[in-house]
Amino acid sequence: MNLLIADNYDEMSRMAAEILINEVKANPSIVLGLATGSTPVGMYKQLIQDHRSNGTDYSQVQTVNLDEYIGLEKTDPNSYFRFMQENLFKFINIAEEKRHIPNGTAVDPHAEAERYDHLVQQLGGIDLQVLGIGQNGHIGFNEPGTPFSIRTHIVNLADSTRRANARFFDKFEQVPEHAITMGIANILESRHILLLASGASKADSIKRLMEGDISEIFPASALKLHKNATIIADQQALQLTQIK
Ligand code: F6R
Repeated sequence: MNLLIADNYDEMSRMAAEILINEVKANPSIVLGLATGSTPVGMYKQLIQDHRSNGTDYSQVQTVNLDEYIGLEKTDPNSYFRFMQENLFKFINIAEEKRHIPNGTAVDPHAEAERYDHLVQQLGGIDLQVLGIGQNGHIGFNEPGTPFSIRTHIVNLADSTRRANARFFDKFEQVPEHAITMGIANILESRHILLLASGASKADSIKRLMEGDISEIFPASALKLHKNATIIADQQALQLTQIK
C-alpha cells in the first residue's frame, strides 16, 4: 500500500480528485468505482469545480457504486442513488445509462446482487475504485468476518455501522438492516484502489490498517494483498499511527 499524507480533509479531497481527474483524462472511458458517505463528498465537490472550470469530460465514463441499502426507494433522501444524484451526478456529464448503482428495491435482492456482479464484469472490471473505511474496518458494506473471496452479496449491517450511519436518518430504527454490496473480491480485482480517511474517528481503523495483520476480521486489511492500493489519510486519521 502506498500512503499519501494530507494535512486535513480539504487537502485529502484535493489530492484524491487530482488522481481521479488524471486517470479520467488518461482513459476517457474509464470504469470508476464510487463510494458514498461523508468521506468522498469533498472530492466530489472538487470534481464538480474542475468540471466547471476546466471542462473535464465524463461523457464516456462508466460508474459503478459499491453499495445500496435494501428497502429504500431511489427517491428516499437516504438512498445511495439519491446521494449520488445530489453530490455528483447532477453536476457533471456522466451519461445516465453509464451510472450504475445496485437496485435496493429489487423484488429478489439475491438475483439483483448476481445481476450487478455480472454487470461489473461485463464492463471489464473497475479501473479506479474509491473507498472510505468504517470504524470497524469495513470497506463497501463488507463487515468484519466477511470472506475475502466473496463477490456482490446481501449483508446484514452490523449494529455499529447502523449506529454510525444513523446520523443521516431521523432515528436509528429507520436505518435499514440490510444492504447490497460489492464483495471484497470485486474490490481486489480493481486495477487501482484509492482509500480515503479523514478525522479522529478513523484513527483506530487507520492504525489497524497500517500496522495490523491481514485478517478477515478486519476487512480493509485485504488491501494489503493488492499491488496498486493508495491510501490518502489526513493528520487526524493518522494520529495513532507510527508512520507519519
Ligand atoms: C459507502 C461505503 C462505506 C463507507 C464507510 C465510511 O459507499 O461503502 O464503506 O465508505 O462506511 O463512511 P463515512 O465516509 O461516512 O465515514
